[in-house]
Amino acid sequence: MLKRKNTNINFLYDIYCSVKDNNEKKWGKAEFTEFIQKKHNIFILSEPNPVGYLKATITKDQMEIISFIIDKKFRKKGIGKALLNKVLVIAANKKVNSIFLEVSVENKIAINLYKKSNFLKVGERKNYYSRKDRKVNAYIMKLNFS
Ligand SMILES: CC(C)(COP(=O)(O)OP(=O)(O)OC[C@H]1O[C@@H](n2cnc3c(N)ncnc32)[C@H](O)[C@@H]1OP(=O)(O)O)[C@@H](O)C(=O)NCCC(=O)NCCS
Repeated sequence: MLKRKNTNINFLYDIYCSVKDNNEKKWGKAEFTEFIQKKHNIFILSEPNPVGYLKATITKDQMEIISFIIDKKFRKKGIGKALLNKVLVIAANKKVNSIFLEVSVENKIAINLYKKSNFLKVGERKNYYSRKDRKVNAYIMKLNFS
């Protein structure tokens, strides 16, 4: 895992931009830099090769996973599961009580992965994601530590 404090922002931003996914609109460098410089935010890369990343933020005793992407070319190799496990360890170390996230109701792969990590569906947000020609609902999923 690369820690944001000890690494170069340009390097991290280049990797962030190189990880391809159809639905992720990338932040500009200023927004990215502002995000990773805040202490309560988390940006971690997949290991050993940086082919994916996970962004999260901690508010009080709760973590929210903001985005989580493995580059299309490197999926189905266990890299996503390993990266998710990393953030679960970080959450436990930071003593958060729960982690939550939103995921498209159509994203069976991610939903499977979260369920295997003991996340539960706790709600649904209507029309949460905008796709080219339509809106898609999101499930809210939550993992409780307590
Ligand atoms: C979701 C994502 C991060 C998973 O990364 P990955 O490296 O491909 O996942 P892994 O290889 O570690 O697989 C972990 C689990 O995901 C699920 N999974 C992976 N590929 C799958 C597939 N083709 N069909 C169904 N489930 C699948 C399985 O539960 C799998 O566990 P298993 O290996 O024990 O069967 C990746 O598909 C991705 O980047 N998708 C686009 C972005 C996205 O949807 N992010 C989540 C938004 S909330």
